[in-house]
Amino acid sequence: MRIGILTAGGDCPGLNAAIRAVVRSADDDGIDVLGIRNGWLGLYDNETELLTRDRVVGILPRGGTILGTSRFNPSKDEQCLGRLKENWETLKLAGLIVVGGEGSLSAARDLWRDHQFQLVGIPKTIDNDVCGTDYTFGFDTAVSIVTDAIDRLHSTAESHHRVMVVEVMGRHTGWIAAHGGIAGGADVVLVPEHPFRLSRVCDLLSQRVKQGRAFSIVVVAEDAHPHPDEVFLTEEQANAIYRHNRLGGIGEALAAEIERCTGLQTRVTKLGYVQRGGSPTAFDRILATRFGIKAYEMVKAGEWGGMTALRGTRIVSVPLTEAVGSLKRLDEEVYRVAEVFFG
Ligand code: F6P
Repeated sequence: MRIGILTAGGDCPGLNAAIRAVVRSADDDGIDVLGIRNGWLGLYDNETELLTRDRVVGILPRGGTILGTSRFNPSKDEQCLGRLKENWETLKLAGLIVVGGEGSLSAARDLWRDHQFQLVGIPKTIDNDVCGTDYTFGFDTAVSIVTDAIDRLHSTAESHHRVMVVEVMGRHTGWIAAHGGIAGGADVVLVPEHPFRLSRVCDLLSQRVKQGRAFSIVVVAEDAHPHPDEVFLTEEQANAIYRHNRLGGIGEALAAEIERCTGLQTRVTKLGYVQRGGSPTAFDRILATRFGIKAYEMVKAGEWGGMTALRGTRIVSVPLTEAVGSLKRLDEEVYRVAEVFFG
């Protein structure tokens, strides 16, 4: 028996831990694991490598993915599907483990539901926006990086009596912003789930100065939007900031407005891809490893069309249909906690 594994979509810390877990459990059963290179593109182009036990030695603490990844998603046209089926047969795959975020797992659901590809999903993403699981791996590492950055930014903020705007990733959800903001002690956290009023942000910051706190940290998620009642972005600015899948720039625009409205010296730091890089935290290594082992068990049991998930402290399987189709928005309770510390 021979199974495949691919990592698709944006890279994140923990991917190698998941690959290693699958290879190690399969090796114990004498089953071959084929690594498909560069996500779905590798299945389309038939680019693979045999993942031996030796190949996964030492990869547990490494960021990124030894298999490579891409944002290529198989389209529904006959030509693409035909090629995927043809390569699947040539490779003699009994099943495939797809490690991906919402987009790649949606493709997995379609290929299973509509074309009977024997697939099992593992959710990964720094954004933590996949439904059906309490956490995705990659998220904890990203939050640690944001927390560390905010800690460091406090030095300059305090010494120069400045407002520091920190723009973080997260796509259409505010998980990274809220968790990073709470852990780093941010004074304002702006998330996509709650359109913000610039006047309120400026009031909070000015209030802090009056109370003797001459510096502030504002965390803004890349897809946070101004409230429609108080739009301060030109159409051109908005189009440049909120591009489909290429978000970024709200921090810069917000910092300029804060400085203009409050007179406080304001600087911006866009953390960008730093949030996705480097060694995974212990939490992410463990979660990715548990997901890898569970996914392999699901393959062995022929539990196709399922995804590994964390529910409370247990690793379970949920149908892919339950996990994709909508995004897991920021928990309101978490937002309320962040809000207690505004101002
Ligand atoms: O989904 C992970 C993520 O890092 C998002 O937070 C971000 O919006 C996006 O990927 C960036 O994608 P890309 O790597 O294609 O620029």
